[in-house]
Amino acid sequence: MKKVIIDVDTGIDDALAIAYAIRSEALDILGITTCFGNVSVEEATRNTLQVLEVLQAADIPVVPGYAKPLERDHLKGKALHVHGENGLGNVELPVPESRARTIAAEDFILDNLRSFPKQVTYIALGSLTNLAAAIQKDPAIIELVDKVVVMGGAVRVPGNVKPHAEANIYTDPEAADFVFQSGIPLTLVGLDVTLKTLLTPEDVKVWEELDTPHSRFLADISKFYIDFYMRENGLAGCGLHDPLAVGVAIDQEFVKTEPLYVRVDLGEEIGKTYEVGRGEEQSLIDVALEVDAEKFKDHFMQMIVHGPGV
Ligand code: BDR
Ligand code: CA
Repeated sequence: MKKVIIDVDTGIDDALAIAYAIRSEALDILGITTCFGNVSVEEATRNTLQVLEVLQAADIPVVPGYAKPLERDHLKGKALHVHGENGLGNVELPVPESRARTIAAEDFILDNLRSFPKQVTYIALGSLTNLAAAIQKDPAIIELVDKVVVMGGAVRVPGNVKPHAEANIYTDPEAADFVFQSGIPLTLVGLDVTLKTLLTPEDVKVWEELDTPHSRFLADISKFYIDFYMRENGLAGCGLHDPLAVGVAIDQEFVKTEPLYVRVDLGEEIGKTYEVGRGEEQSLIDVALEVDAEKFKDHFMQMIVHGPGV
């Protein structure tokens, strides 16, 4: 099993990604760090604890991270119109019995990368604030991490939170630009591919018909997200953004990547991810530009409810 740390701003698709990661049994989840983004960091932590309890995986450590961007006040507000007032599609869950850890997120990340050199994949499903803070604290982690998979950016397609910017990058653009340039081995799974993997009302129907507590939970939280995407974007379903990044951590073959130099605009089109030429002082990152949507979707739908056993 691949050791991973998952960083989240839970969020409906973060919750689906966590469920997929757990049920696939392909990943050894060392811990989940939380960040502001779709909701506040406190809400992201609460939601993550609740999701883990529903999934009967409350033994996975949850570690609260940053409450705001590294170098500025909030640029972007919460995404309650996308994820619901509570971040989980307004599905009410019991107050979590489990508690979050008290260690700082960057220390949790550093401790684990030092304990398991070259063995840990870091999966970022929210802003890159916690990762940037960890690199700033100890740049040695650039060599210690096996790889980083980031859900974020829109390199050759339009953005979502702004016409030019994707939400996770826009949430903390300075942190994202710093991470992209740090030289850390990074695969970027952005809107270029995630909007080609949609969860549709028909998929939700499959979960409803299965009618287990687990499948009902997945169906209940997904409806709000799907409604938003169909209404606001005219799509046939919602983008499986965060689940696809987990999919890529499980099997890189779900996507085709190209090594590109990518920067984050910190000026007029803040949060925009764009390619630059080789001349610049800059690290290459692997950008996912194509996805085998059918293969990924089949794997996701199979694993998230049945796991690898059936
Ligand atoms: C990303 O932004 C958040 O709203 C989602 O959880 C996902 O991580 C999609 O742009
Ligand atoms: Ca997210």
